[in-house]
Amino acid sequence: MGEAKRRTKVDGSLKIGAKNPNLGTAMTPQQYAEEWEISSSAFDKNGHYKWMAEQFCNGDVVLEVGCGSGLGTMALCEKFNKIISVEVSEECIDRTVATLRSAGVAYEVSDIENMNSDTITSSSKVSVLHASIFNEGIKSKITGGNFSAIACWLFGANPYTISDHYGSTPQRLKGSEISKYREDAQRHCFQLGEHILVSGGIVSMVNRMGFAAGATEPEFINALSDEYKVLSGSAYTITPKNTVIRAIDSEMKSSRISYVTSQLSNLTVLTSTVAVRI
Ligand SMILES: C[S@@+](CC[C@H](N)C(=O)[O-])C[C@H]1O[C@@H](n2cnc3c(N)ncnc32)[C@H](O)[C@@H]1O
Repeated sequence: MGEAKRRTKVDGSLKIGAKNPNLGTAMTPQQYAEEWEISSSAFDKNGHYKWMAEQFCNGDVVLEVGCGSGLGTMALCEKFNKIISVEVSEECIDRTVATLRSAGVAYEVSDIENMNSDTITSSSKVSVLHASIFNEGIKSKITGGNFSAIACWLFGANPYTISDHYGSTPQRLKGSEISKYREDAQRHCFQLGEHILVSGGIVSMVNRMGFAAGATEPEFINALSDEYKVLSGSAYTITPKNTVIRAIDSEMKSSRISYVTSQLSNLTVLTSTVAVRI
């Protein structure tokens, strides 16, 4: 993506480096992409993306929600014939493109406006779609794509994207919007899955989470499974055996993503929940 385009977008309605009285100085989209690249390299090095992909069978087409620096995309390449990756951040798309290019993976990038039905049937292994997953235009453009799965892994966003979504500014974020944004996006993925997934298709949700003090592993898994049953609605089967957890190394329990650090201070595990479309 061109530097000029990025500057126009950032300098237009968003004040970069905005100070928030409760949360500190907002991380810019560029900083967020850089920090995520560091975090996701550690995830990759520790085999976590491979583990996420191992939780389900091979399939035809997968919709990836937020590609970050492209390392999750690479793991999905091992399991699916085609990856459609929806990503809102130009800065993250730049990093994903660099990852795919250096791995020799065929890719293309389109904007939602110039995307057409050829995008989901094109021979490129990965089609990156520059759009927000909340964009209502996506559903009609990708319907009929023979999707076996939706992967929503480690979803999150920079403060500008989050505040923009709620019609606010980074200065006015209270902090609670960060987890609400993730929950809204995950609910949205389940709803999208009702339209685009083949029967028996799956939605894969991966999060970093902390145990509540005193909780056992089965209690933790049952509670998470129940939460996803509510979030996903009646079109999916979710049972506790669809959720697995994995320890993460101590250096990955906290995040370098500053606006998020305080929210994630007690992280202990990665969780993977697979919902099956009825
Ligand atoms: C924390 S990163 C995780 C990336 C990747 N799934 C992984 O596991 O490495 C979250 C990604 O979701 C993207 N994102 C945030 N909001 C989005 C939205 N509304 N639509 C599409 N992508 C979004 C962010 O820009 C970022 O690249």
